[in-house]
Amino acid sequence: MANNQPLDRYAVFGNPVGHSLSPKIHALFAAQTGQAMQYESICAPLDGFARAVHAFRAAGGQGANVTVPFKVEAHALSDELTLRAQAAGAVNTLAFSATGILGDNTDGAGLVRDITHNLGVSLAGKRILVLGAGGAARGVILPLKEAAPADIMIANRTAETALALARSFGVHGGGFEVIQACAFDIVINATSAGLTDAVLPAPTFTPGALAYEMVYGRETQFMQAARAAGAGLRVADGLGMLVEQAAEAFFVWRGVRPQTLPVLAGLRQAMQGSGKDGA
Ligand code: ATR
Repeated sequence: MANNQPLDRYAVFGNPVGHSLSPKIHALFAAQTGQAMQYESICAPLDGFARAVHAFRAAGGQGANVTVPFKVEAHALSDELTLRAQAAGAVNTLAFSATGILGDNTDGAGLVRDITHNLGVSLAGKRILVLGAGGAARGVILPLKEAAPADIMIANRTAETALALARSFGVHGGGFEVIQACAFDIVINATSAGLTDAVLPAPTFTPGALAYEMVYGRETQFMQAARAAGAGLRVADGLGMLVEQAAEAFFVWRGVRPQTLPVLAGLRQAMQGSGKDGA
């Protein structure tokens, strides 16, 4: 018997948003798990994010992802925030219900899952260096901390920003000179330098360390420098984080965890272009 129920509606809001891989990822998740849903991309006007979200919700939307430049506005728009969204100060996942809008942030969980599950690198007991102290860095510190590393150091071009961020999470931080303090097991590039060819200072890696770039779709200067730093180093881009943050959002909405590895492998084969920030 044909089922004429309308599909549950989800969307990613951004500006620009045409480059977003999220519609493709969620369509693959929905097909894989048999969820009756559709997922579109919506380019909200720069001064009209809240209006666009409310209109989507009024038209039957059940939830949304949020990408650049609206993650902080999405935080402000939410009636209720998860702990990880509060810590991130930004929201990338909205879930609508009769009682209001729940704001969540799945970026950090996506990063941790990509590192531990897909790349098979444990965070427990490791010395972690996070480069950058903007929104992308802030979004991942709490989930990294919860994975019980030996130490987290935040290093940023602007020292005060790193110090403030480090203080708020009870970790170490400072200007780029703090990179020289020791060798690191895991270095995460959360700066936006990877979107240009800007050169970052080079950390010292322990043997077999992981260099993780949040940008995906391009071989960044950070990745090149890490590859040149030692044969035993592992270098990863942020495509796995993108897929994992999407899977976590899918779980928030649908209560079902999709298999991410086949989706990640398919995207790796097919994708062109570059991006950052979980959409
Ligand atoms: P995002 O959401 O990508 O984190 P953001 O909040 O604007 O964007 O933060 C950008 C981060 O990348 C900041 O940590 C920024 O350093 P500053 O605080 O000193 O501005 C960092 N960044 C951007 N371009 C950089 C460059 N060329 N070299 C070093 N750091 C850079």
